[in-house]
Amino acid sequence: MIHAKLVVDSDFVISELDRRIFGTFVEHMGRCVYTGIFEPGHPTADETGLRQDVMALTRELGPTIVRYPGGNFMSGYNWEDGVGPREDRPVRLDLAWYSTETNQFGTNEFIDWCRKADIEPMLGVNLGTRGLDEARAYIEYCNHPGGTTLSELRRSHGQDQPHGVRFWCLGNEMDGPWQIGRKTAEEYGRIAVETAKLLRSVDPTIQLAACGSSAHNMPTYGTWEDTVLDHCFEQVDFISLHTYFENKHDATEEFLGNIDVTDTFIQEIVAVADSVAARKHSTKRIMLSFDEWNVWYKSRGIDDLRKPGWPVAPRLIEEVYNFEDALVNGGALMVLMNHADRVKVACLAQLVNVIGPIMTEPGGPAWRQTIFHPFALTARHAHGRVLRPVIDSPSYEAKTFPEIRYLCASVTDDPATGRTVVFALNRHLGEEMDLKVHLRGLGRQRTLVEAAELHHVNMKATNTREAPDTVTPAPHTRVSVDGEVLTARLKPGSWNMFVTHATDRG
Ligand code: AHR
Repeated sequence: MIHAKLVVDSDFVISELDRRIFGTFVEHMGRCVYTGIFEPGHPTADETGLRQDVMALTRELGPTIVRYPGGNFMSGYNWEDGVGPREDRPVRLDLAWYSTETNQFGTNEFIDWCRKADIEPMLGVNLGTRGLDEARAYIEYCNHPGGTTLSELRRSHGQDQPHGVRFWCLGNEMDGPWQIGRKTAEEYGRIAVETAKLLRSVDPTIQLAACGSSAHNMPTYGTWEDTVLDHCFEQVDFISLHTYFENKHDATEEFLGNIDVTDTFIQEIVAVADSVAARKHSTKRIMLSFDEWNVWYKSRGIDDLRKPGWPVAPRLIEEVYNFEDALVNGGALMVLMNHADRVKVACLAQLVNVIGPIMTEPGGPAWRQTIFHPFALTARHAHGRVLRPVIDSPSYEAKTFPEIRYLCASVTDDPATGRTVVFALNRHLGEEMDLKVHLRGLGRQRTLVEAAELHHVNMKATNTREAPDTVTPAPHTRVSVDGEVLTARLKPGSWNMFVTHATDRG
């Protein structure tokens, strides 16, 4: 048994939690759209072809914002191809994923899906094959109320009210050699600032994210952000970050430790953004949009990324997640919450089939992957503000990081409801953890509202069509609350959540 202590105090607040960190991502890639969220003729499809089984699981997952239409797809996309009468829409080669794009699903269908799912849409403009002119036309089509050719075109497409899309991405991963229309930091910084100016001219209420590095191990990491922000600092609100966790050496403790690399990643990007601010003598702070993150390494070979013959909606990167992947994702959410002062938006990439928490079969069922569960529980229960977690825990060493604490934790507190929620990961694989949480200044008459654990004896256990609930949360029974102290016994290699409520808040 190992012992760990977690202390939080009502007065030590990181920030209000921006619940847009519980976002996800729908790309025209593989079967995310087609036979994912959209499948006319499916037994559960509504009159517009939206799968209601996937809709129900999406609601249960609880994302707050969804990024669309890519990803790499964005850099070769003509938004005009996906609007208007379906029979008139062109069929195109998608050069990002070597697929055939039928355009039977486009912006208006996506907005309808978001409205039905009660999720905020996030759109991106193509800065790969296109640029300023397309971007200004796209936002005018989407957000201008009416009276111009483009806004009336939207209205003629059955969308009388403007879409009011507030969050826009200025391209995708423009530093990556794989990106259609890849740019140097100078080239991208220039087009990003000019595009931002035009988008804001059409709709001054929007928020804009510039592309950061596509991964923290890119050769231009750091200098890319510095140069890009040097150009567009005044015109953008966010810089993006992308991370895909890998279990490179099939070493679970090392894999779980990679969560801490994200912590460093965020701190470094904040440092670069703030050094640009310093150079410009500005008090403005650029926020972080972690708009692609997930585990992704098992289905990353060329055969997973590309199928021969330009197929429509092929099976691409349909990663089957196991229990340890769910632990990593649960821990990553804690890290994101613990940076709530700067990370205001994040998107689990992606939503369905393509590295997704939800899997489907065409014409068949939909089910929850292992990674569904920590996301759904965190998104449902994390509200209010994030408290600074002071952790006292034994630690271990891994190749990726010198000192990793066995306890990874995050605490949210909502004064409006009196609820304080503790999220805790025991990264020790052989020992139970005796955890004491001191909830200072948050009321002494505290009760436990809900307690859950995600645990499986087999780190490689998966959820499949035949056995969809192999890895699923269970009530946590070894927890007690006494005044300000919560005591729990965490299983080795487990993700845990404790929802408490105090009736005597000051
Ligand atoms: O999410 C899959 C792909 O990963 C996205 O299209 C791209 O942005 C990233 O490299």
